[in-house]
Amino acid sequence: MTPQIEFVFNQLDDSLKKEIIDFWVGEKALGVEQAHQRVNEIALIARGSESKIMGVCTIRDYYFKPIGKNFWYFRTFVSKDYRQHGVAIGLLSETKRRMNEQFKAGKNPKIIGIIIKVENPILKQNFPQATWPRTQFHFVGTEGDSHIRISYFEGATID
Ligand SMILES: CC(C)(COP(=O)(O)OP(=O)(O)OC[C@H]1O[C@@H](n2cnc3c(N)ncnc32)[C@H](O)[C@@H]1OP(=O)(O)O)[C@@H](O)C(=O)NCCC(=O)NCCS
Repeated sequence: MTPQIEFVFNQLDDSLKKEIIDFWVGEKALGVEQAHQRVNEIALIARGSESKIMGVCTIRDYYFKPIGKNFWYFRTFVSKDYRQHGVAIGLLSETKRRMNEQFKAGKNPKIIGIIIKVENPILKQNFPQATWPRTQFHFVGTEGDSHIRISYFEGATID
């Protein structure tokens, strides 16, 4: 099933927040307190049949010291019922497209790209390319067991 992906960054009302908190807590992805904090970082939601949430992703402004620049730190969670159907790839691609558009329009000019920390051992093993071909995220090093990957927005500069 192709998910319907909604961009809701900074546009969540209380009922949508509650729906996402219930999703995370119900899936045992996050505890209640963590879910209440993280919900303010929600960027996109993927929905399936009957509008059921398949997965969500969050972004927050993050200073990455080794590069000395700010990035949107992207995190995602997909329901156990809908894994390996392209939901995570869809959320990552659409987040990149949306935030790239915002950057080009002059919004948050100090945040010059997206950073992800790949913890999942299967993803690290199955996708070892220095640059991921579909989403163009570049490997820039490790942090503990995580692979750090970055994608810059179009026209980003380092001055
Ligand atoms: C990791 C996670 C986000 C992947 O979500 P997903 O929607 O299943 O991922 P996608 O379907 O978009 O998969 C992307 C690619 O990874 C592969 N993949 C994902 N999970 C896999 C698994 N368990 N085993 C083998 N391949 C897997 C998919 O087959 C796909 O590759 P392909 O397009 O070449 O076939 C999801 O498993 C999850 O939420 N896990 C718990 C939280 C987590 O680990 N978050 C990410 C931290 S890095």
